[in-house]
Amino acid sequence: MIRDGDASDADVVAEIAVEAWQPIYAHSRETLGAELFAHLHTDWEAEKARQVRQACEDDTRGSVLIATVGDVVVGFVSYYLHAAPLGVIGNNAVRPEYQGRGIATQLYEATLDRMRAAGMRYARVTTGGDPSHAPARRAYEKVGFGAELPSVTYHREL
Ligand SMILES: CC(C)(COP(=O)(O)OP(=O)(O)OC[C@H]1O[C@@H](n2cnc3c(N)ncnc32)[C@H](O)[C@@H]1OP(=O)(O)O)[C@@H](O)C(=O)NCCC(=O)NCCS
Repeated sequence: MIRDGDASDADVVAEIAVEAWQPIYAHSRETLGAELFAHLHTDWEAEKARQVRQACEDDTRGSVLIATVGDVVVGFVSYYLHAAPLGVIGNNAVRPEYQGRGIATQLYEATLDRMRAAGMRYARVTTGGDPSHAPARRAYEKVGFGAELPSVTYHREL
């Protein structure tokens, strides 16, 4: 089931986000090395939790949809309507043990419906081009996202 989220979802959404992003940050750490990773992503868990909490708690800073299976909150998506006619999908994740069951697909479809209902004509989402973001890229393409403009961030030791 998909429903609108609110401040009461902030804790569980933050918990899902921190769990679901572990492999992504593990990949970054492996790619960048421990020292540069620590410099760039100190306390990423707290920062990610802060971002998703804010979307739940502050209506002026974004909206959230929540996916549930029975009583369990299994996923969320944040989205933004302040750049009309462009709706923007932000942080989103599905609990690792519930991934691969079409839950993100349902969340994104519901988000696109909300955007259409709010008068948006386009939707945008930004994600990583590295292997840890392959599930996200596939999931976005599955709901019709294309017209991609990739970029690459390089690093080197001095
Ligand atoms: C991205 C994410 C939300 C997808 O959630 P999900 O519920 O597993 O996605 P769905 O089950 O709806 O799958 C959608 C498509 O992605 C594919 N997919 C899902 N997991 C995949 C994986 N590990 N590798 C490759 N493709 C994958 C599915 O197979 C499906 O495509 P298909 O129907 O052609 O087979 C989830 O992997 C996640 O939480 N990732 C970590 C956080 C993240 O990356 N968020 C997005 C940041 S931009």
